[in-house]
Amino acid sequence: MNSQSDGIRIAVVIGSVRPGNYTSKAVALVADEIRKHPDIELDLIDPAQLNLPLPGTDSAASDAKGLQERVARATGVILSTPEYHGGYSSVIKLVIENLGFPSALAGKPVALLGVAAGQIGAIKALENLRGVCSHVGAIVLPGPVSVAKVRDVFDEAGSVRDERTERRIRGLAMNLIDYIRTAICPGVALEAMVREAD
Ligand SMILES: Cc1cc2nc3c(=O)[nH]c(=O)nc-3n(C[C@H](O)[C@H](O)[C@H](O)COP(=O)(O)O)c2cc1C
Repeated sequence: MNSQSDGIRIAVVIGSVRPGNYTSKAVALVADEIRKHPDIELDLIDPAQLNLPLPGTDSAASDAKGLQERVARATGVILSTPEYHGGYSSVIKLVIENLGFPSALAGKPVALLGVAAGQIGAIKALENLRGVCSHVGAIVLPGPVSVAKVRDVFDEAGSVRDERTERRIRGLAMNLIDYIRTAICPGVALEAMVREAD
């Protein structure tokens, strides 16, 4: 399931470092949904708290290795991104650039969440991000969630004004958890049984 523990662990990456960003408000709902499951460990990754080098400029002082280890330990990952200039954020790309080669995302189920101020939502960001995640070997789950007109969905304090959108955002976490429980956990349990039988 993951290299360091037998429990389920989900890493959630915040794709905006803008002060007061709305991506974090959507991520808060995802995190809340995950916390409803006591057997699942949540690792909230906020790039604003990390020293992530630009590609090719890594140094011993950076957090790149630590980031790789956190993602490698995760059973599944949720990547969130704002829609910036018709694509996903440079923040989330910088995270991906720092996940090594082969990527710590390789072979992991990954669910995608996009947040946009505009009315067409974060469709372009999500499509671009899906392509890059697939390229590095992630198992990108169907059903990415795009939040349009995000400033109508949350107030500035982060309270939700739109229950339907809230359900869609929470559903993203539930989809990933369902996938992990049905598609990944049985394989791990089987492997443990085979080991015991040896
Ligand atoms: C650099 C930049 C580019 C943006 N480009 C777009 C865009 O192409 N389409 C859109 O709907 N919103 C765009 N926005 C608005 C964001 O979608 C909006 O700020 C939203 O709240 C998500 O970003 P946040 O998580 O940083 O708040 C842009 C914002 C910034 C700062």
